[in-house]
Amino acid sequence: MRAVLKIGGSLLYDKDGNILVEKVRNYAVAIKSLVKDGHSLVVVVGGGIPARVFISAARDLGASEAQCDWLGIKLARNNAELLCAGLGDIAYPKIVETLDELEVAVKLGKVVLMGGLIPGQSTNAVAALAAETVNAETLFNATNVDGVYDRDPKESGAKRFDTITIVELKKVLSGGGTKAGEYKLFDSVAIRVVERSKIPTVIFDGRNPDNLTRIFLSENIGTRIVHND
Ligand code: UTP
Repeated sequence: MRAVLKIGGSLLYDKDGNILVEKVRNYAVAIKSLVKDGHSLVVVVGGGIPARVFISAARDLGASEAQCDWLGIKLARNNAELLCAGLGDIAYPKIVETLDELEVAVKLGKVVLMGGLIPGQSTNAVAALAAETVNAETLFNATNVDGVYDRDPKESGAKRFDTITIVELKKVLSGGGTKAGEYKLFDSVAIRVVERSKIPTVIFDGRNPDNLTRIFLSENIGTRIVHND
């Protein structure tokens, strides 16, 4: 299938900001095996700890929100470069920076990698726009929680949704930040794009790269965003 995979940048760093090289390698291995099985992938990588660190320092120094966003965009592209290195020849060798460029790159049959696109959104929006552009069958979102919960998962009694509608998702995510580095699981651009193009989307626990293989085998892990016609 043609799919877009978003890998949360936070998955690729430990709490001190060191790169989890083995994790990047394991993602590369899992992606290679999916490609071998005939899947075609666009992979969007998030900014992770480096983005948060640079954005916070720049904000302290008086940078505008747009300047802070640009730092996040570039750092997400750097993270995508790391995965590109791990993928070797099966990857399109340049990190794609626009949706126009994406349309051309996917035609070459390689794994196409992206980081950020433009200020005012998160890499989840990039992933949603990429899925719309390449007409992806599914958008897979690997993150550091095992799905969408009806409240803060740390609260007792919190319940994970197996499936969720966009209306329910908007309710759960209301109150997400709008500043650089603070966009929550799904920012408003991502939600709007997923909603208007009815993109089947699965949010799953990406802390273990093996879950990527499991999710492609349609195992029931994570939360699936469903669309009513
Ligand atoms: P993300 O917040 O999407 O990174 O991008 P992330 O690491 O995936 O987040 P987690 O791990 O899921 O929590 C980093 C920052 O880059 C800017 C935003 O400021 C964003 O918070 N950004 C990213 C943009 O401004 N535009 C983009 O298209 C992408």
